[in-house]
Amino acid sequence: MPGLPAARRTVLKGAALAGAAGLGAAACSTESKLGHATTPTPTAPVDLGDAADVPVGGARLYREQRLLVSCPAEGEYKAFSAQCTHGGCVLTKIEGTEGHCPCHGSRFDTTTGKPVKGPATVPLPAVPVTAEGGKLVAGPQS
Ligand code: FES
Repeated sequence: MPGLPAARRTVLKGAALAGAAGLGAAACSTESKLGHATTPTPTAPVDLGDAADVPVGGARLYREQRLLVSCPAEGEYKAFSAQCTHGGCVLTKIEGTEGHCPCHGSRFDTTTGKPVKGPATVPLPAVPVTAEGGKLVAGPQS
């Protein structure tokens, strides 16, 4: 039966792919448990320096603080966690009004925190921010 071995190979190949997909999912959940902050938003006020460092109509990443701040209009600031809601990676770059996650390609709107490209489906958590005296302070206000 010349057809049988080919059919068997197809079945085995399918099983191998299913196994690989399973491993991918496991690696992703493992990734979120290793090396990523469990609390994506600050628990105390965080000084981010000059508000003027955030371009009007754009946004700036504060990777060390795991935050991003956008400035949709002069004097108006919005802050979000910069930790991707998919697997916990910290965003690495901003292009226009989109923040990019390096791990699996999710992108987030920096003015709303909403994902504009998956695999992430959950918005970045908003963080309170003030710009008194030209200085940005994010996190819970004291
Ligand atoms: S961690 Fe998966 S896209 Fe960001």
